[in-house]
Amino acid sequence: MSENKNNDKNIVLQVEDLHTSFFTRKGEYKAVDGVSFHVDEGETLGIVGESGCGKTVTGLSLLRLLPEPAGRIKAGKIILDGTNLLELSKKEMRKMRGKEISMILQDPMTSLNPLYTVGNQIAEPLRQHQQLVGDRVEEEVISALRLLNIPAPEQRLRDYPHQLSGGMRQRVVGAIGMSCNPRLLIADEPTTALDATIQAQYIALFKDVQKKTNVSIIYITHDFSVVYQMCHRVAVMYAGKILETARTEVIFNNPTHPYTSALIKSVPRLDRKDDRLYSIKGHPPSLLNLPSGCRFYPRCPEAKNICRDKEPPETKIGDNHSVYCWGVN
Ligand SMILES: Nc1ncnc2c1ncn2[C@@H]1O[C@H](COP(=O)(O)OP(=O)(O)OP(=O)(O)O)[C@@H](O)[C@H]1O
Ligand code: SF4
Ligand SMILES: [Mg+2]
Repeated sequence: MSENKNNDKNIVLQVEDLHTSFFTRKGEYKAVDGVSFHVDEGETLGIVGESGCGKTVTGLSLLRLLPEPAGRIKAGKIILDGTNLLELSKKEMRKMRGKEISMILQDPMTSLNPLYTVGNQIAEPLRQHQQLVGDRVEEEVISALRLLNIPAPEQRLRDYPHQLSGGMRQRVVGAIGMSCNPRLLIADEPTTALDATIQAQYIALFKDVQKKTNVSIIYITHDFSVVYQMCHRVAVMYAGKILETARTEVIFNNPTHPYTSALIKSVPRLDRKDDRLYSIKGHPPSLLNLPSGCRFYPRCPEAKNICRDKEPPETKIGDNHSVYCWGVN
């Protein structure tokens, strides 16, 4: 089932009923279990949820970069600017990566090669996708570094990753992701390893880059303060499924799904007098053995009988707000 489309905006990405599993000796882990969402041009969609809920696997599925042979996309559609990426050959998909769709991985150190200069690593996708050579490559590398506000780019491009600070390395990873001016950028927890000040700078930078390039961004995080600063809309993910999608201010001020409410309640807030933090009881279910009804049922304070037996369908509450919960039917 696909969610509400906003007809005024140009939809860049439409994901429909995506299923991705890991097939192991223990059985099938349903890491992404029927996920649908869209991203508009120039929009940032946040994907939030507890550790292990399938955020990274969703991102890797969009790039078709799952660890093989265990990881496999079983069903669904991933439509980028009208093209279903799941129908492309491996060669066609390689051309898409970096050029139309790119991903900043969760750990910046693993995405930078210590043996190559920063300039060389930014140049790689430019040579591959834009067939640039010689001085043109260097010009584009410098402009990618400039876009990410990296000071003295002419010197920096000759540095190796270990010569840069953590915050600077993160910007370089951002510059690699942005170098070919993609339509869609997936940023997977890019600020987790950064301290609060650098994190705020990085977020401001991302917003600035988006204003200049109109890139669509999927911002994966478990940090609600980052969501608040960065995202136009939010998809709340739980045990392989998106349970609520809404505009950011709705998610914060008027969360509808009991899981979203619980997540919001567990975020520390300066304006709350009571400083004891709410924590959600219990643990997410095993993706190897998902419950038959609502997957949040074992932890839900509002559960009813029907919740145990039947999975709730999607309910749309106005524009761009959808919820999977029997409580709103
Ligand atoms: N290589 C793998 N083999 C088997 N199962 C895997 C593999 N990678 C991921 N999974 C399964 O997919 C689930 C989702 O993992 P994913 O990395 O997407 O979580 P996440 O939401 O990004 O968590 P985090 O916030 O910790 O990064 C995991 O709970 C795990 O069960
Ligand atoms: S469907 Fe039922 S168990 Fe699931 S979140 Fe809604 S009320 Fe809770
Ligand atoms: Mg992850």
